[in-house]
Amino acid sequence: MFVLLNPLDLFSDISKSARPFVKWAGGKRSIIGDLLERIPDDFNSYFEPFVGGGALFWKICKNKSHLSDINFHLIVTYCMIRDNVEEVISRLEYHKKCHNKKYYMKMRTKLSKTEDPIEIASIFIYLNKTCYNGLYRVNKSGIFNVPIGRYDDPKIVDSDNLRKCSLSLKNVDIFQNGFLDIKPKNGDFVYLDPPYHETFSAYNSSVFGQNDHEELVTFCKQLDHSGILFMLSNNDTPLIRKLYDGYNMSNVNASRFISCKGGERKKTNELIIRNYVRKKEDKQCS
Ligand SMILES: C[S@@+](CC[C@H](N)C(=O)[O-])C[C@H]1O[C@@H](n2cnc3c(N)ncnc32)[C@H](O)[C@@H]1O
Repeated sequence: MFVLLNPLDLFSDISKSARPFVKWAGGKRSIIGDLLERIPDDFNSYFEPFVGGGALFWKICKNKSHLSDINFHLIVTYCMIRDNVEEVISRLEYHKKCHNKKYYMKMRTKLSKTEDPIEIASIFIYLNKTCYNGLYRVNKSGIFNVPIGRYDDPKIVDSDNLRKCSLSLKNVDIFQNGFLDIKPKNGDFVYLDPPYHETFSAYNSSVFGQNDHEELVTFCKQLDHSGILFMLSNNDTPLIRKLYDGYNMSNVNASRFISCKGGERKKTNELIIRNYVRKKEDKQCS
C-alpha cells in the first residue's frame, strides 16, 4: 500500500524539530507547553518582537512570520543561518579546531570589530557555546564581555540543527529593531517576551526598566484596539499584574537558571497574559 506524503507536511515536520541555536537568558523552553496550549486557534501572520533564542517560534514555524529583536549580533546571525548556513557551519568547524582560552579572548574582541555578517554569525554562535552560562552581556560601549565558561567539550557545531533552522527560516522576515517598530495587522498574532520585570534585564548596553514596561503595556493596548491578538509572558510581580489588569492572566511555574550562581535552578512564578481565549477554553467557561 502506498501512502502519499504531502511535501508541505514533510517540511513542517522537519522544521518543527528545529531547536534554538543559541542558549538564551530568559529562554522559554521550561514553559513551552503552557505557551503552546494558549496560542490562538487561528491567525494570519506571526510576530515575535523579542525573539532571543525563539523557543516558541521553533515550535510554531509558520511561513508568514516576522522575527525581530534589538540585539544586532543576534539578528545578523538569524539572517546568516537563513541565507548562508553552509558557510556558517564551515566557519564554526574552524572555531572548534582553534578553541582555547586565548582564541576565545581574541574572538570576543573581534565580535565588536568585524562587519562581515558571516564572521559575526559564526563568532556569535561560537561565543554563545563556550562562554559562561551562554550569557550575552555587553559593557557600556556595547562590547561583549562574558568570561569563558568551564566546559570539557562544548558542542560548538550542531550542523544538523542549524540546517533545520535554516529551512524553517526560509520565508521568514527578520529585522533588527525595537518592539515599537513592528507592523502587525488585524487578525495577526504577536507573542511578546520582554526582559522580565525585577530580574536579569541587561541584554544590551541599556536596561529594560519600568518605563519600558509601561510603554509596552500602552503598545499592547494599541494592538488590542486594532484587532490584533497578543500573548505576553513576564514575571509575576505586583507591577505587571497592575499594568495588565483586565486582560486574561494565567499563573504558571517555571524552573530557571539564576545567572549569578552558575548552574543553580530556581522555581519562579510567571504570568501569561492574553487579549483572547481559545474556543476550547470558552466552552469550559460557559
Ligand atoms: C526574555 S528574552 C526573549 C527570550 C526568547 N523568548 C527565547 O525563548 O529565547 C528578551 C529579548 O528582548 C530583547 N530586547 C530587549 N529590549 C528590547 C527592545 N526594546 N525591543 C526589542 N527587543 C528587545 C533582548 O535582546 C532579548 O533577546
